[in-house]
Amino acid sequence: MRGIILSGGSGTRLRPLTKITSKQLLPIYNRPMIYYPLDTLIKAGIKEILIIVAPERAGDYLNLLGSGKEFGVKFTYEIQDKPEGLAQAFIIGENFIDNENVTMILGDNIFEDNFSEEIKNFKSGAKIFAKHVPDPERFGVVSFDDSHKALKIVEKPQEYLSNYAVTGLYVYDSRVIEIVKNMKPSPRGELEITDVNNIYLEKGELEVAMVNGEWLDAGTFDSLLRAQNFAKEKLDGKMIV
Ligand code: G1P
Repeated sequence: MRGIILSGGSGTRLRPLTKITSKQLLPIYNRPMIYYPLDTLIKAGIKEILIIVAPERAGDYLNLLGSGKEFGVKFTYEIQDKPEGLAQAFIIGENFIDNENVTMILGDNIFEDNFSEEIKNFKSGAKIFAKHVPDPERFGVVSFDDSHKALKIVEKPQEYLSNYAVTGLYVYDSRVIEIVKNMKPSPRGELEITDVNNIYLEKGELEVAMVNGEWLDAGTFDSLLRAQNFAKEKLDGKMIV
């Protein structure tokens, strides 16, 4: 299993905090934000990790994280020249992924759960992780039928679909590379991860697991503040990075 941390983007929603640094390097209590998703991958036993960053910040990531030796893993770095969508990570990471399965986590997603069993047991297809939230319109949202089978996924739905947000942790087989290469950008000009998930869903190869513990996407001022307190109170003693 290979791992990708997608840490690109310009963090416009967090200006001026992100004027001189990357969102995913901002402090969350006593660690840079990216340490939290890194911890999630390392706890799942993933040893080869690709970190995808924006061009202006590449040096900062290298200085902070280095080769990975300190964490007992190996880092590879790639640049995402423009924020053209989460799914672009699989094109950028094509050589790195090779023919392996791949877990991608977003650099601003902070999880309490340990996903090592879910990730180690993955064989093929796609697996995503959903969480019941009060504000689903901020996220990709998945709806279910009466037997808990996923029906469809909609990116930031304008009309109510369900309260289940699709979190920023995704596991795919290596077919994901060809799937993304054949996709078209959405109206907002991005290769959407939601489109990837719907393609696996239509093939009947998408599994939706539930997130039991807390989950935060630290991409807004309010969620950043919540993440700080959550990290101090619930995560500090459990981190291995
Ligand atoms: C992205 C995805 C969305 C997902 C979210 C999780 O949204 O597009 O489907 O629910 O991450 O953090 P963004 O944070 O880029 O708006």
